[in-house]
Amino acid sequence: MCGIVGYIGPKQAQNILLEGLSKLEYRGYDSAGLAVYNGETIGVSKSKGRLSVLEDKLKVQGLPGSLGIGHTRWATHGKPSDANSHPHVDGAGRFAVVHNGIIENYIELKEELIAKGHVFTSETDTEVIAKLLAELWDGDLVSTVKKVVSRLEGAYALGIISEYEPDKMVAVRQASPLVVGLGKEENFIASDIPAILKHTRDVHILEDGEMAVLTAEGVTLMKTDGTPVSREPMHVQWDVETAEKGGYDHFMMKEIHEQPKAIRDTLSGRVKEGLVDLTREVGLSEEEIRGIEKIHFVACGTAYHAGLVGKYVMEDLARIPVETDIASEYRYRNPIITDKTLVVVISQSGETADTLAALREAKKHGARVVAITNVVGSSVAREADDVIITWAGPEIAVASTKAYTSQLIAIYLLGLYFAKIRGTRPVEELKEIVKHLTELPGKAEEVLQTEQIVAEFARSIANHEHLFFLGRGLDYAVALEGSLKLKEISYIHSEAYAAGELKHGTLALIEENIPVIALATQQYIYDKMVSNIQEVKARGANVLGLAAEGDTELIKSVDRVIHIPKTIDLLMPVLTVIPLQLLAYYACTERGYDVDKPRNLAKSVTVE
Ligand code: M6R
Repeated sequence: MCGIVGYIGPKQAQNILLEGLSKLEYRGYDSAGLAVYNGETIGVSKSKGRLSVLEDKLKVQGLPGSLGIGHTRWATHGKPSDANSHPHVDGAGRFAVVHNGIIENYIELKEELIAKGHVFTSETDTEVIAKLLAELWDGDLVSTVKKVVSRLEGAYALGIISEYEPDKMVAVRQASPLVVGLGKEENFIASDIPAILKHTRDVHILEDGEMAVLTAEGVTLMKTDGTPVSREPMHVQWDVETAEKGGYDHFMMKEIHEQPKAIRDTLSGRVKEGLVDLTREVGLSEEEIRGIEKIHFVACGTAYHAGLVGKYVMEDLARIPVETDIASEYRYRNPIITDKTLVVVISQSGETADTLAALREAKKHGARVVAITNVVGSSVAREADDVIITWAGPEIAVASTKAYTSQLIAIYLLGLYFAKIRGTRPVEELKEIVKHLTELPGKAEEVLQTEQIVAEFARSIANHEHLFFLGRGLDYAVALEGSLKLKEISYIHSEAYAAGELKHGTLALIEENIPVIALATQQYIYDKMVSNIQEVKARGANVLGLAAEGDTELIKSVDRVIHIPKTIDLLMPVLTVIPLQLLAYYACTERGYDVDKPRNLAKSVTVE
């Protein structure tokens, strides 16, 4: 995830910025850069790779000066490269900007600016901000920034300096975190508190639509429309480690809570006039999309579980037959692939060895490959024909959470896009589904409120060695993911079953007091699911049911119910999985295991 640091004061900025960026390294990044005003001009140094590469460059040619901004980049638009690294500047080098987030309308802005003679040197969305600053310059930095911001759509945290007004730094926040640190005759900005904790514990946490104007002597807060904002600074008590985790005890919990944002960001810029538009990421022509005869979803672990949801989604929306395969099986099983087969590989890291090998196998057989991945420039992203990036930001905990829900969003987008082109659903119906899709971030916030009930249930199962997850249809796909999560970090053995299959053998394992988590969110199969729940309840199981909001029936058949905000059946997995992630988390902490680094597992499995 990108990181921002900025400094204004009497000291040399370079080392303060480098040190601040080093405190953000844990978030993951692919390149870094600094811009420092040297008394006459703004000097810029940036490079792809680790911060140490930039440090070596600065040892040869440093950046003197006491006003500066720094950035670590996690690529979204454009591959990791020196040119795409931040800070970005305008043509004359009078303005420098660092940016976290995504500018959704950057293509329109870029075209407009190119027509006015601006020359772009990177593939990033951010560069339009630097060029707009020059284009809209009116002799006053704050007023120009306001004009620029009024043209931007999307999410952004910005740090801006200009050689026209070198006694100032301007910071803006819109849907991407930014804090202002208050020092003695020096002030700071940062995307995360750890970057400035060494210098100050007094901070203003900017809110959406706010900006801060920093000088060495003080900080003025205002809204981007100019309305003054007055707020007492907050005094941070956290130590560095807690600050890195955003105040949570573990990265996994932080990442569970980041899901509303990850969902919002993954949707960002991909819905136009109420319908999905993926023409930027999927290069297939309309004729080719109409000609697809089969889709193979191929992935490992959690990403494979997202592919299982993908089967339901794609078959339902686009009416294309789908097979979902485990990558380590697919690569060796001689699958039937033709040039009318679309292979969709899913990988958070984009580096999983089996997934990459399956991708190569598919290409060898002439398939077109679309990658759904969280890492721009990863091997999977480079080798696939088309790439849909999930904008979840780096996932640090081994147990995947926000990457999964973002993968689901990418799959829905692909399904809705194909359905539009293939004409398999009326446009009005597609618009209705898209409307529900865009409501998911808010509903994900609501599901997070179930935390305490889930924690309580987790305590009741923590001493058990076996448990079951049951579901039908999409609930079964989510049950598999809930079960994997629990096994992975709490080491409780669990199995997920398609509830209708229980009586064909597994029901024999149900005995007095065994915990069962029963997902009953799919309305079309609800009554059948309730019958299956009654089968386990009759044999003494202790059942936690998950049902859609407004359900008053399920409680009659289970011991406890968690209600999930209502959306259409197809989209329920995004919400239903969240209590299951929380359950795994609390079962793990209750049993005293390492949440973020479970035994025997690695975040990215780059060997077979
Ligand atoms: O990076 P990938 O998505 O390709 O990783 C695939 C699996 O290794 C991964 O999803 C794994 O199952 C997770 N740790 C589960 O939480």
